[in-house]
Amino acid sequence: HQLEMDLASIEKGGYDHFMLKEIYEQPKSIGDTLRGRLLPEQGLIQMDGVYQFQEKLLNAQRIIIIGCGTSWHAGLVAEYIFEELARIPVEVEYASEFRYRNPVITERDVVIAISQSGETADTLAAIKLAKERGATIFGICNVVGSSIARETHAGAYTHAGPEIGVASTKAFTAQVAVLNLIAIKLAHKKGLLKESYYHRLLNELNEIPRKIEDMLKSDAQSRYIAELYKDAPNFLYLGRGYNFPVALEGALKLKEISYIHAEGYPAAEMKHGPIALIDENMPVVVIAPKSGQYDKIVSNIQEVKAREGKVIAIVNDGDSEIAKMADHVIEVKDTMEVFSPLLTTIPLQLLSYHIAVMRGCNVDQPRNLAKSVTVE
Ligand code: G6P
Repeated sequence: HQLEMDLASIEKGGYDHFMLKEIYEQPKSIGDTLRGRLLPEQGLIQMDGVYQFQEKLLNAQRIIIIGCGTSWHAGLVAEYIFEELARIPVEVEYASEFRYRNPVITERDVVIAISQSGETADTLAAIKLAKERGATIFGICNVVGSSIARETHAGAYTHAGPEIGVASTKAFTAQVAVLNLIAIKLAHKKGLLKESYYHRLLNELNEIPRKIEDMLKSDAQSRYIAELYKDAPNFLYLGRGYNFPVALEGALKLKEISYIHAEGYPAAEMKHGPIALIDENMPVVVIAPKSGQYDKIVSNIQEVKAREGKVIAIVNDGDSEIAKMADHVIEVKDTMEVFSPLLTTIPLQLLSYHIAVMRGCNVDQPRNLAKSVTVE
């Protein structure tokens, strides 16, 4: 028994849970995902899978992204990145809906299937359907040799390493990193990026692991906030643009492991419903980095405060404007808007982790959930 316990703690690398270990691994897992592909000194992005289907991707009339759960959220982030940089129309869909709605697919469509495990039944079935209808399928998987990796025409692995915690953390940021690489590569090939901007993108993406490492030096603030709000029955998460999917992902993390009801919303949609829920008992997590629609999100924070909601804002280092309005702030490093989700996701992972631990939940194996869902 003692031996088993020792082995378990060795596997967790000294962390209390796999989830915490995996959160802390992100500088490395993103670094591993970028390594050999992102070559800022040479001004290059090298990806065999993309190279193989470059013409298809460059000429795609549309990219359809499919996935489930957290992988679907990575797809939503990619919609913003691809449309902004590569100017290719993108649709993102739950694999489970796509497969049953008789979708219009042509040979000029590229389907990107995102899956950590590479075994999700709905995603696999959606791929088979799109393939039958002539689309080119590009996979983004973490597990080498998985069913989805084998079923796709080409792909790029996320090199996040094994993810054990049921709630996906490092796999998500690795997916977003790969999607960034692909979008920048295609945008550059299409001649859509000024050279100076292209080089800035490469250099800044290269800095992301270091910035996360810096941010992870202390989680005292997220722990403190967790302590204050761990008994709240509901949470609302708001974000705009690139950080709207991060709001969804933050809410999903909290639901999954702490069993607190949480909803993510695009901040501007708050007025069409969720605002009715806001009172002095409602914690509202607002993702509000400087890049993006900062002034708009500031107004959203004021709307929450006017109704006495409790605002927990994710802001850039040294942001004093929001600090004056919000009840609490958690600081993240500044970066370019396209990379923002890679940083803003981190404190939300930590916040849900600490809340779940404080509530005595089984963080790594939450009730009713499975790491990979191989049945419908
Ligand atoms: C399950 C897991 C989630 C994951 C989803 C999709 O629900 O608990 O963490 O996001 O499946 O899994 P996939 O392996 O396809 O990314």
